[in-house]
Amino acid sequence: MALYSEKVMDHFRNPRNVGRIEDADGVGEVGNAKCGDIMKMYLKIENDVVVDVKFETFGCASAVASSSMATELIKGRPLSEVKKLTNKAVAEALDGLPDYKMHCSVLAEEAILSALEDYQKKTGKKI
Ligand code: FES
Repeated sequence: MALYSEKVMDHFRNPRNVGRIEDADGVGEVGNAKCGDIMKMYLKIENDVVVDVKFETFGCASAVASSSMATELIKGRPLSEVKKLTNKAVAEALDGLPDYKMHCSVLAEEAILSALEDYQKKTGKKI
């Protein structure tokens, strides 16, 4: 069996929603101290819905694929659902990641949560 699923390779080679949002409502940045990879997530939010999302990831193929898939999963979704997104759901949507690469998907979950916290801090809203 190939190490990475076709979906992982697709999202690594053609990542969706790469870039930044200058007037983002929430920005989250997280890193993994062990591998040194960094992920930054930008959210545009209207009426408690993520209307746009972009990411910048300086990291491995799994981290890039996880961020790309995570953005696809939360775009257009209400914040109440977005905050529940788990790294497991991201990995499943990618048709799996090797066990030793699961921590890469954790970055995506954490980056989104961090962006939501930033949004809450800026607006005083509770999600
Ligand atoms: Fe660092 Fe994948 S090896 S996030």
